[in-house]
Amino acid sequence: MPEFKGRTALIFGGKSGIGAAVRDLFERSGIRVCVADRFEADELSSSETAIRIACDVTNAQAVRLVVDRALETLGHIDILVNNAGTGTPALDFHEVPLQEWRRVFDVNLDGTLHAIQAVLPHMLQRGFGRIINTASQLAHKPAPQQAAYCASKAALVALSVSLAQEVASQGITVNCVCPGPTDTPMWHASDPAWKEWKISQLPIRRIGTVEEVASAYLYLASDEAAFIVGQSLSPNGGDVMW
Ligand SMILES: NC(=O)c1ccc[n+]([C@@H]2O[C@H](COP(=O)([O-])OP(=O)(O)OC[C@H]3O[C@@H](n4cnc5c(N)ncnc54)[C@H](O)[C@@H]3O)[C@@H](O)[C@H]2O)c1
Repeated sequence: MPEFKGRTALIFGGKSGIGAAVRDLFERSGIRVCVADRFEADELSSSETAIRIACDVTNAQAVRLVVDRALETLGHIDILVNNAGTGTPALDFHEVPLQEWRRVFDVNLDGTLHAIQAVLPHMLQRGFGRIINTASQLAHKPAPQQAAYCASKAALVALSVSLAQEVASQGITVNCVCPGPTDTPMWHASDPAWKEWKISQLPIRRIGTVEEVASAYLYLASDEAAFIVGQSLSPNGGDVMW
């Protein structure tokens, strides 16, 4: 069994869905966790064990403050999970407003950039780190009418592979999890016809549970995954096969 005693994690986007399941699994595995998300004031006084910090990942300064606070609280950060993400309505390509394109990239790509730039100096100093970015199976198999989302997630995979090569020799691994359709608020907010079509395309003929996806993060965070560098781990029901 993987051993996580003394390990710490900072999870951006850990309030609901996949991020909340990762938070639960990490905590049950003995990892001390800080969660940053768009929490409301009344959500910050929760009795849950993970430390909660309010933050919008599109704000680089706010992300830096989160990292400072996580370091104060946890002492160090071993694992960074970048999971904050946003979907986009189904739109024909020529009708995607530039504002919507930028909104999706701001959260899905720039948010991750902000978090990595804030945490990486600390990981480099310690000579250890696990950076896990949530992309999507749509990065590898883009769908029609989802150009902004697919392109932002494909860019996230490229960012991860580029960075993985820079830092692997310094004890830091960078990988992506590329989930397929998963039972979360984001999935349920999608267009009903799209959901029905997507499930019919999956070899497994069902969506995944958040627990089935969260286990990929725990593996990538473990010492056993030390040789996994720049990869996309894809719990996706067979939607994309390599
Ligand atoms: N559910 C799926 O089918 C699926 C498939 C592939 C990839 N994903 C990705 O998984 C990740 C988690 O999504 P989910 O499905 O659990 O949906 P979700 O909506 O439950 O979770 C998204 C989380 O990100 C947070 N968030 C969004 N914008 C933010 C911002 N600007 N600053 C801080 N936090 C922000 C939300 O508050 C929420 O907690 C996302 O990156 C999503 O793109 C989801």
